Amino acid sequence: MERIGIAVLGLGWMGQAHSRSALRIPSLFPDRAFTPELVVCADVEESRRRRAVDDFGFARAVEDWREAVAADDVDAVWVTAPNMLHIPMIEAACAAGKAVFSEKPIGGRPDQAVTAYRAAQAAGVATGVGYNYLWAPLVLHARDLIASGELGDITHYRGRFLSMYGSDELGLLTWRFLFDQAGYGVTSDILSHSVSLAQFLVGPIAEVVGMRETTIKQRPLPTGAASHYGRGRPEDPKGDVENEDFASMLCTFANGATGTFEVGRAIVGPESQNAFEIYGTKGALAWNLEELNELRLYRLGDDANTGYTTIFGGDRFPFHGAFVPGQANAIGFEDLVAIEDFSFLQSLATGTTFSPGFREAVDIVSVQQALIDSWESRTWERVRDLAGERSEGSAGS
Ligand SMILES: NC(=O)c1ccc[n+]([C@@H]2O[C@H](COP(=O)([O-])OP(=O)(O)OC[C@H]3O[C@@H](n4cnc5c(N)ncnc54)[C@H](O)[C@@H]3O)[C@@H](O)[C@H]2O)c1
Repeated sequence: MERIGIAVLGLGWMGQAHSRSALRIPSLFPDRAFTPELVVCADVEESRRRRAVDDFGFARAVEDWREAVAADDVDAVWVTAPNMLHIPMIEAACAAGKAVFSEKPIGGRPDQAVTAYRAAQAAGVATGVGYNYLWAPLVLHARDLIASGELGDITHYRGRFLSMYGSDELGLLTWRFLFDQAGYGVTSDILSHSVSLAQFLVGPIAEVVGMRETTIKQRPLPTGAASHYGRGRPEDPKGDVENEDFASMLCTFANGATGTFEVGRAIVGPESQNAFEIYGTKGALAWNLEELNELRLYRLGDDANTGYTTIFGGDRFPFHGAFVPGQANAIGFEDLVAIEDFSFLQSLATGTTFSPGFREAVDIVSVQQALIDSWESRTWERVRDLAGERSEGSAGS
């Protein structure tokens, strides 16, 4: 079995999630073609380097990520640091000939994802991107239902990611709110997830128009390492939020369907409502991360006016049985991360192409760029493939 040595750059929320995946994969997926090995973790925080070795079993931990990327015993690099560090990390990993799995959105500006894609192309290395919700077993089932024609022709898509992570005005001014560390705000952070789901399920988005707002304009400055959900005090000094808290978008898909999107991080009510509703000529589907183990299906052919049927997750759907047998026994957020990491590592070991990779990440930021353009022009904007490879209106194919 092929040994794959792993470097993780940044042991925060997602660095820890991916590291736990590497630890769990051997017991979850016995039929794999590789053995993952946590070789080196890089983090600027001393406490996280200590955790990497003591709690996660990394062979070593270093302060300088360049050292981790260059190590001879590393085959694949996980980029899990704040957005604006993605590109130098990815460029160095590509130059060293390492496979790269980067957390979304790849950089913080649309052009940066293109830079990463070109670096990987030039180096000929395998790539993956952390659009983990695409791996939810019931989302995979939704894609199968749509592809089999169960919903008829798709006429409308409604996507939203409404989160409360920035709804508290005392929530700390962490990297996500600063342009030089995050790039754009919710359009980079969570619209990217919504667009990835939409293009995965329904196909390329062709044209968009939209708006944005920064709801909470100032936040308390953090002292020391600040967590995503950290809270300051009313008397703490404050700094400016430099990117958008809310964005909405109307769109048309290349196949003629219409779409609406809303994303917000300063909304009160929805905790983590990453959701879609898909409407076709013969039926409809609805899914919401807050109820990850339930897919709702409406079929015209069923008894009229009985509403939606709930399909519970279970081991009859892809990957679910690796975690828990039977029906309606739930899986969770980190299980989706384990599925994507297993699938990426398996693709490396078997020499197959993984998707979503950097090419698909460019398809997503091409939509983001058209939306950003529409903020300025205040009109509809065509989605143009920022890599210049796809014909107009097919950037998600
Ligand atoms: N797919 C998802 O569902 C999902 C969820 C959360 C975050 N993300 C993405 O994951 C990435 C990281 O987000 P997070 O929430 O884990 O952030 P985080 O703030 O929790 O963790 C970032 C880590 O990077 C470390 N770091 C900062 N500068 C560094 C440097 N120069 N070298 C090495 N390490 C450094 C920090 O000390 C911290 O441990 C982002 O790109 C984000 O968009 C994805």
